[in-house]
Amino acid sequence: MRVGLLTGGGDCPGLNAAIRAVVRRGLVTGEHSFCGFRYGWAGVLEQDVVELTLQSTAGILPRGGTILGTSRTNPLADREVGLERIRRAFEQQRLDGLVAIGGEDTLGVALALAQEGLPVVGVPKTVDNDLAATDFTFGFHTAVQIATDAIDRLHTTAESHNRVIVVEVMGRHAGWIAAYAGIAGGADAILVPERPFDIDEVCKHLRRRHERGRTFSIVVVAEGATPHEGASLVLASEKLDAFGHVRLGGIGVTLEKEIERRTGFETRATILGHVQRGGTPCAYDRVLATRFGVAAMSALEGGRFGVMVALRATGIVEVALTQALAEPKLLDPDLYETAEVFFG
Ligand code: F6P
Repeated sequence: MRVGLLTGGGDCPGLNAAIRAVVRRGLVTGEHSFCGFRYGWAGVLEQDVVELTLQSTAGILPRGGTILGTSRTNPLADREVGLERIRRAFEQQRLDGLVAIGGEDTLGVALALAQEGLPVVGVPKTVDNDLAATDFTFGFHTAVQIATDAIDRLHTTAESHNRVIVVEVMGRHAGWIAAYAGIAGGADAILVPERPFDIDEVCKHLRRRHERGRTFSIVVVAEGATPHEGASLVLASEKLDAFGHVRLGGIGVTLEKEIERRTGFETRATILGHVQRGGTPCAYDRVLATRFGVAAMSALEGGRFGVMVALRATGIVEVALTQALAEPKLLDPDLYETAEVFFG
């Protein structure tokens, strides 16, 4: 088989491990060759390709980012034109299959192509961990570890200065990073998109803590968290990307001001931002990405298209892309209840 690969959407640690795994699994039989499309779907439209071989994928397992580059290009922004160009790329590159590694947007395009009869298999990645039909996406555990390390560091400075520190983490629709890092880092409050918060309640809670003798607090907030009463998201930019998403960011700064104004406690905000997506993947993400890559190549070889490889409990399975994209995977309420035990 001649197999194409691409990485689309925001990057995350583990992408290179997945690329390497597809290629290495394909080379086991010695009957496959691989090309990588550069910068996501943009590379398919432009037929910007690089040959992927044993040599070119050697040594990339621990490397962050993606050797192929990525973008948020939507190739179906003009559906007919896009489809025509993608079909041409399949023909001219003599592709028998394509592995699309990405989140909801990249995999949404993969689904549309599969529905048009193209041989596509999806591999789920996102630090947000908000893709349905898989227990975890790779990138997530690395982001959680980075956020946890940051919270640990912020704890000591918050304590030294008797401050409230608000830590803003990624999480557009779902509060997975906030909840995991908040639990791991011993946060005193965790604000997530799934549960609009009441600023009065947050401040009351912080005051109660201080009345009980605690002199500092850590509040973890997901970038997509919103206050009650239908207040809108805090945006870093109103410009929409090719898939219609605004850029979030800044809720931490809003909270910093409000908490200090309402409680009188000195407050600081730290926005972790893209540091959560950078650098080397943790062992868990390397293993998950490797298992996904191997499984994606097996699906292609078996002629099973229109599927996404997924983690269910401890096993790797194939699920229909439609199932994976039906709705975002929101935070498990039980997990949030566990976190709440430690607020205060
Ligand atoms: O989708 C993953 C994600 O990291 C979100 O958590 C975040 O809102 C977004 O990407 C940031 O995107 P960009 O890299 O385009 O700023």
